[in-house]
Amino acid sequence: KRKIIIDCDPGHDDAIAILLAAGSPNIDLRAITTVAGNAEVEKTAINALKVCEIAGLKDIPVARGAAGPLTRKRETAPSIHGESGMEGPSLPIPRQTLVKDHAVDVIIEELLSSKGDITLVPVGPLTNIALAMRKEPLIIPKIKEIVLMGGGMSGNWTPAAEFNIFVDPEAANIVFESGVPITMAGLELTHQAVTTPEIIEQIQAISNPVSEFVVELLQYFSKTYKDEFGFSGAPIHDACAVAYCIDPTVFTTKKLRVDIETKGEFTSGMTVIDINGVTGREPNVNVAMELDKEKFWNMLINALKHYSQA
Ligand code: BDR
Ligand code: CA
Repeated sequence: KRKIIIDCDPGHDDAIAILLAAGSPNIDLRAITTVAGNAEVEKTAINALKVCEIAGLKDIPVARGAAGPLTRKRETAPSIHGESGMEGPSLPIPRQTLVKDHAVDVIIEELLSSKGDITLVPVGPLTNIALAMRKEPLIIPKIKEIVLMGGGMSGNWTPAAEFNIFVDPEAANIVFESGVPITMAGLELTHQAVTTPEIIEQIQAISNPVSEFVVELLQYFSKTYKDEFGFSGAPIHDACAVAYCIDPTVFTTKKLRVDIETKGEFTSGMTVIDINGVTGREPNVNVAMELDKEKFWNMLINALKHYSQA
C-alpha cells in the first residue's frame, strides 16, 4: 500500500480526491490536513470532516492547518466553490472531530515516525507543507515524494498563475526548492480530466450515498466552471494527483526545471516551466503531460463502487 497524506482545501475536487484515495485498496490514507484556499480554513477543515462522515471514514485523522499564506493576504474562491467552499450538496453534521494537533505538526509527526515511505499529496495552496519544512527541516529527507496539483503553463486565476500557486507563491517556492522529488499535475493535465454526461451517468448508476454526493458536487462544480470559464464539464483537478499515486502510468511526465515567480507584476504565482531547456539548470519537477482518461475514470468509478460494500 502506498502511504499518503492529503493536504487540501475542500473544495469540490478536493472532496473527490479524498474519496478516490480512501476508496482505493492500494492507498493507505494516513491523514487529511487542511489549509485556507478555496475557503477559510475553518470551513475547509469542517468540509473535510463532512466528506469523511458521508464516506463512513472514521479512522483517518483530520487536522486544521494554516489560516492564510506565509506573507500575503488571504485569497479564496467563492466564485468557483461557493461561500462554504463546498456549496451544492446537502451535507451532514460530522460526528468525527478535528484532531487537537495543528496540521503542520501532524505532517511532521507522521513523517518523522515513518520509514521515509510517505508521499505528500498537496492539492491546495502549499502553506502547510512549507511551514512544516521550515519548522522541522528533518522531515525533508523523509518525504518519499510530493505529488501535487498546482501550476501549469498558463493560469486560471490570473493569465499566468493557477489558483493554488497564486495564493501562496512564497510557500510554493520553498517546496519547489526543497530538493524533494516533485510530480506536478498542473492545468494542462487536469484540464484533460473534465467530466462528460456519460461519466456523470456512470457515476450516477453506482447509486450509493457516496456516488450520489459526488454527482451533487459535480453538478455545482460543472455549473461554476461553465459560467466562469465556459467549460463543458467539471475538471476534477485534485483527483489527478491521487490517481498518480494509485497508478503512476495514469499520466506521462517530463522532467523539467520549474521555478516559482514570486515578484512579477503580471506573473506572480506563475510556475515558470523550462519546456525548451533554455536555463541549462537541473530539472527539479516531474511535470505531468498526458492523461490516460480511460484509466483515470475507471479508477474513480471503481473507488466509488467500493463504498457500496460499506
Ligand atoms: C485548484 O484550485 C482549486 O479551486 C481546486 O480545488 C484545485 O485544487 C485548481 O486550480
Ligand atoms: Ca484544491
